Amino acid sequence: MRKTVKWGGIIVLVVFLGIQLVQPERTNPPVDQAKTIEAYVNVPPEVKSILERSCYDCHTHHTKWPWYSYVAPASWLLAQDVKNGRSSLNLTTWGEYSERKRIAKLDQICDELMEDAMPIKPYRIMHPGAALSKAEVDLICSWVEDERDRLMEADTTSSPAQERE
Ligand code: HEC
Repeated sequence: MRKTVKWGGIIVLVVFLGIQLVQPERTNPPVDQAKTIEAYVNVPPEVKSILERSCYDCHTHHTKWPWYSYVAPASWLLAQDVKNGRSSLNLTTWGEYSERKRIAKLDQICDELMEDAMPIKPYRIMHPGAALSKAEVDLICSWVEDERDRLMEADTTSSPAQERE
């Protein structure tokens, strides 16, 4: 019996060490300031600080990779979340969205928060301060509304031949 436990432990250890060899990419690609959300949208400091605290890790190229992002299998899950997060909403490469898409993405930010869907649950466990209070959700949503209105106005005054998507 003892022997089995011992061998069991050794096997678990070997597997654990083995999977560490499979390291995901933990990227933070270079930032082009001209493409960031701040270059297109007024982001007041109080909004920015909420985004920085709760969203930047998965929706910008300013991800702070924690120590456990170096330990498989957590590393795989985290890298996947960041990859999917950036591909659904990237505040660093905001300028690559069409005008319409920028408006839609702003709306989505408020929608996700109203549904209490962001930041995703596992992140909240590891970052207890990341969840937004009701007042913070209201602040973000009223910012979204103001900026959306401003962008829509700018849109109707621009030429009709402009980009469509
Ligand atoms: C731990 C990573 C993580 C954090 C932190 C995070 N998100 Fe996300 N976010 C994701 C992932 C993964 C997706 C894509 C899959 C999904 O919708 O669950 C996503 C998708 C989104 C989308 C796109 C939804 C759609 O309909 O395509 C929006 C908008 C969004 N997040 C907003 C936010 C906001 C705002 C915050 C901060 C309050 C935030 N996220 C924090 C991981 C994260």
